[in-house]
Amino acid sequence: MRSEIIKILLENKDEFVSGEYISEKLGITRSAVSKHIKNIKNQGYDIESITRKGHKIIECPDLLSESIVKHDLNTKFIGKEVIHFDTTESTNDYAKKVAVESIDGTIVVSEDQTKGRGRRGRQWHSIKGEGIWLSIILKPDIYPHKAPFITQIAGASIVKALKKLKIDASIKWPNDIIVNNKKISGILTELGAEIDRVNYIVLGIGINVKTVDFPEDIKSIATSIFKEGYNVKRIDILKNILEEFEVLYLDYIQKNDKSSCIKICKENSAILGKNIYIINNDKKRKVKCIDINEAGNLVIINEDNDIEELIAGEVSIRGERDYI
Ligand code: BTN
Repeated sequence: MRSEIIKILLENKDEFVSGEYISEKLGITRSAVSKHIKNIKNQGYDIESITRKGHKIIECPDLLSESIVKHDLNTKFIGKEVIHFDTTESTNDYAKKVAVESIDGTIVVSEDQTKGRGRRGRQWHSIKGEGIWLSIILKPDIYPHKAPFITQIAGASIVKALKKLKIDASIKWPNDIIVNNKKISGILTELGAEIDRVNYIVLGIGINVKTVDFPEDIKSIATSIFKEGYNVKRIDILKNILEEFEVLYLDYIQKNDKSSCIKICKENSAILGKNIYIINNDKKRKVKCIDINEAGNLVIINEDNDIEELIAGEVSIRGERDYI
């Protein structure tokens, strides 16, 4: 009920909405409306209430709650269903639990994660309110081998969204997002499938937005948007990502068109034209990145001066001197 009331207030953002109107619209008593408004204010919403005029929303708290995310979200299906937690173990784990019965495009967001997971079984540092801990449940009608490219679509949409917000970000192929040579965001895509069909994909995205202190072991490679000098609201980042993601995702799923995504990945690559190390089965090789081809694979010149194509997920990448 609270989120219904917030929705009404947001739909009438610059006006007072009377308690009577809310009570009639939601079929509850006026005293119930007053109680809910009091609770909503306690959650951090700045609401002006004037007798005989009603309630006007002045400012929303920095929360990624359902009504705030859905308000003015310009998508067809991504984020039409929002599951928001104050805390959960891992949004990916929760999304996997509910994926089968959820509608395509449902998102799971949490203010914090107590067991946030990164790739390769690593832990993902997810402090309360300091980042975006998001999982998108997708149900495309595609063969399982086509699923990994969705990670690159996510990377492209994150960078495009950040650029729109004037944040100078780039992609460390295939799926880390970089600001000033450090990682601000990572993607963990998980698949629920049979041999020849995808049941669901859980696309997990973690973005460090406000964190200033990182644990010792990741201090040298991790950063946040705020730490790099950008003051942008989490909600604006989240909504922009959902909107950009949907466009690129539908191109791929409906038209098998990877071109816009690959163009973004190439134009904003943190590694193209550079010498890097690729690590595979404990073997480290120094190579030069020359292209991301139309399949989304990384094209390199290897130590024998031969051209090689690398498939996402098969290798780890390190910069010549540092993380990148
Ligand atoms: C990486 O290792 O770079 C991937 C990090 C992915 C973290 C996100 S945060 C939201 C979602 N839930 C998780 O437990 N992990 C992903």
